[in-house]
Amino acid sequence: MADEDEWGRAGFATRAIHVGQAPEPETGAINTPLYLASTYAQASPGVTRGYAYSRSGNPTRRAYEDCLASLEAGTRGFAFASGLAATTTVLGLLSQGDHVVACHDIYGGSMRLFDRVLTRFGMMFDYVDLADPAALTAALRPNTRMLWIESPTNPLLQLLDIRALCERARAAGLIVVVDNTFMSPYFQRPLELGADVVVHSTTKYIGGHSDLVGGAAIVGDAELGDRIAFLSNAMGGVQATFDAWLCLRSLKTLAVRMRAHEANAFAVARFLDAHPDVDDVRYPGLPSHPQHALATAQMHGFGGMIAARVRGDLAHATRLLESVRVFTLAESLGGVESLIAHPAIMTHASMPAEVRRANGIDDGLLRISVGLEDADDLVADLAQALDAARVTA
Ligand SMILES: Cc1ncc(COP(=O)(O)O)c(C=O)c1O
Repeated sequence: MADEDEWGRAGFATRAIHVGQAPEPETGAINTPLYLASTYAQASPGVTRGYAYSRSGNPTRRAYEDCLASLEAGTRGFAFASGLAATTTVLGLLSQGDHVVACHDIYGGSMRLFDRVLTRFGMMFDYVDLADPAALTAALRPNTRMLWIESPTNPLLQLLDIRALCERARAAGLIVVVDNTFMSPYFQRPLELGADVVVHSTTKYIGGHSDLVGGAAIVGDAELGDRIAFLSNAMGGVQATFDAWLCLRSLKTLAVRMRAHEANAFAVARFLDAHPDVDDVRYPGLPSHPQHALATAQMHGFGGMIAARVRGDLAHATRLLESVRVFTLAESLGGVESLIAHPAIMTHASMPAEVRRANGIDDGLLRISVGLEDADDLVADLAQALDAARVTA
């Protein structure tokens, strides 16, 4: 990829703004044009200028995919209509009878896809607490083909040792997929740690403005890239051109946004940590996080997500969530606006109740996506909401 060669040694923010995005040759326009064409003229049957039909390839989407691949330290990226479309396509690498080991604290929608759709096609899934990488080896079966992990996990922000798990998975011949949605490539690059495929819900930090739904997969290995290119075209879950264009625009500010998310998250996490009504604050940047050392070793920063357990019952948590004013009570994460959610009732409702309880997703657990408002306003908002929840108790 000539473009990647040219920018290969540049820093993250420079590549985010330039890879795949040379000025348009005809007019010099500095932004990648939005190519809304579904089909492309051929000079002679089968003779194209690289594009024949937009499901198979689109110049706007391609610019974004090349840029994202560079940021994830991969060679090839693929943009999908949603995170789950990316997940579905990557699972298309497997066949009937294949077994997958997945982390137990997994996004509920991924578990729903695995257990309620893909099992009907003869795939098998086990959810394993992989905090100790030896648990992977213990979970292997002769037909295990894939390891599927998130780190930090959603919503409890448990970290997994990606490098150690990749070493064990490689010895067993597994494809390792890391859902990197929570960190974005700015703070974590799993391909550098030995993973084969990185998946994103680009609805989150990559899109960054809560105005689109998208997904992505990035690989380093050329042969795996060809297989996913085939699946992307064959299964057809590609991202719409306009949304790919929005994602490309969002990549340009990913570095500054992630730094600002992190600075605000530190302020909010420290405030919650010191508050008497909050029992347990999980933020990988705090030394009190049980895996702070691992976070420092495998990530380039700590992100904008916090899990906090408030004291009291469901009614108390509900009053708090109804009292926020700067935060919005909503699902999703990674946008410029701060969101707060109740995983047991909202984001993880699709996970069976007994699995939720076993994983520690109880009535007091809140998930916070710290946005880009002023940190003082965010802290003041949580302070008044905690007060409101207590006063009326
Ligand atoms: C970690 C993680 N992975 C995947 C997904 C699915 O992405 P999408 O909603 O874009 O389909 C989500 C959505 O919340 C998520 O949080």
